[in-house]
Amino acid sequence: MARFYVTTPIYYVNDAPHIGHAYTTVTADGLARWHRLLGDEVLFVTGTDEHGLKMKRAAQANGLSPKEQADVYSARYEEAWALLDISNDDYIRTTEPRHHKAVRALMQAVYDNGWIYPGTYSGLYCVDCEGYYTETDLIDGLCPVHRRPVEFMTEENYFFRLSAFADRLVEWYSDQPGAVTPESRRNEALGIIKGGLQDISVTRSTLDWGVPVPWDEDHVFYVWYDALINYATVAGYGTDDGRFKKWWPAVHHLIGKDILRFHCVYWPALCMAAGIEPPRRVSVHGYLLVRGEKMSKTAFNQIAPADLVADFGVDGYRYHFLRDQSFGPDGEFSYEGMAARYNADLANNLGNLLARVSAVVAQKCGGIGPAPRPESPLAPLASDVYDAAAAAWEKVAPSDALEAAWRLVRAANAALEEAEPWRAPPGPEVDAVLGDALEVLRIVAVLASPALTRASAEIWRRIGLTQPIAEARLPDAGRWGGYPGGLAVERGGPLFPRHRD
Ligand code: MSP
Repeated sequence: MARFYVTTPIYYVNDAPHIGHAYTTVTADGLARWHRLLGDEVLFVTGTDEHGLKMKRAAQANGLSPKEQADVYSARYEEAWALLDISNDDYIRTTEPRHHKAVRALMQAVYDNGWIYPGTYSGLYCVDCEGYYTETDLIDGLCPVHRRPVEFMTEENYFFRLSAFADRLVEWYSDQPGAVTPESRRNEALGIIKGGLQDISVTRSTLDWGVPVPWDEDHVFYVWYDALINYATVAGYGTDDGRFKKWWPAVHHLIGKDILRFHCVYWPALCMAAGIEPPRRVSVHGYLLVRGEKMSKTAFNQIAPADLVADFGVDGYRYHFLRDQSFGPDGEFSYEGMAARYNADLANNLGNLLARVSAVVAQKCGGIGPAPRPESPLAPLASDVYDAAAAAWEKVAPSDALEAAWRLVRAANAALEEAEPWRAPPGPEVDAVLGDALEVLRIVAVLASPALTRASAEIWRRIGLTQPIAEARLPDAGRWGGYPGGLAVERGGPLFPRHRD
């Protein structure tokens, strides 16, 4: 059985989740669900990043201890994921003992291998990034990401000999051409490596909110080095060697472009230094923009997933972000665009197909759904659509996968309009066209199920299929001819009530 281990970044608990965070998590969830349909053994993980200075300050500002702050906000992420039907198999919090064990074990291995040495560090620090910058990185004297003032910091700490890994990283990139996608991001990472790597500080002596350094307990690890290791923790590093062998290194990370340097340069180097293989795949996406800007607390442009779910439902929410926001480039969020997509694809195309078919089956076939034609004119298209959807998910292009499925929905609606079974007398011709349409509904429900977690199951139920859709297995369930016919088809209310634009 194939295995599929997919991760999201772990989110900072200084603030509540917004649709930018949810974008990565919903995409990872879609991928996990697709791989479960393929019959793969899946490990899909998300979680929260709970240490560091930013967190400590957020807690102080809220009058909470760092742990209380982490508990409150980590729970808000969990609530958001439950609301969005996120099917993660594990939820990692960096304050958990299993994670402390993994960080200490992995960093001890790096230390024992001779890649860590003590020193003093001074530099310009952005607390929001939890990272140092040089003068030249700054834009108008401000952090290039957050456009906020940086602080001069100096401290005693331990350094990771990153500079020693430049050649090995370049080699890794040429041996694994598909490891970082899209290509432009791969080139960006290679550019950073070839531009010269400096050793980096991996501990903090001025902070107590973190994982204590095993060889010098007065220090804690720098939050990013603790955070990256979460991916190994979940796979069993430091606690379960058998499990680690099973899941590592075939891990697939999904990340936003702002954390490329950490995932595509520092993390592979750290893995090499610890004596484990770097991650197999990192897919990098752009930002979701609101009125041209990245969402942020300071810009007051954050949108909570719950607000959109209230208007569009869970399926409408998931469909929009998977279908309309291509994974890769930046994308502009627009409420109007979301409403238009919902009405066009869900209310009109898919919703109408189900409504029409069930109405005509009730009128002309006594409510019993006929079987599709093996030689249906829609069969070759269904086969193309399945292949296109499978290829698209493989490339982390959910938008293309759903676009393909909707080609089949549109073709089935067009075939109905042409045949007009509602005007024709009951008989084999009407049965044939309705059987084909029912088969399209069955296939589309499966292909869309990574996005439409609820409607896909409802379509199956209404067309009389009793097997839970989650038990469907691809490729068979995606091929023409699976609808048996002879099943009671239910006439229900609109699957996707129209949204008032
Ligand atoms: N805690 C670190 C990640 C550690 S992973 C070992 C972190 N957290 S974060 O909460 O600030 O961001 C998490 C992810 O959310 C990042 O991939 C980031 O790109 C993504 N997004 C935050 N805002 C976003 C948008 N507006 N649009 C798309 N993704 C965005 O970084």
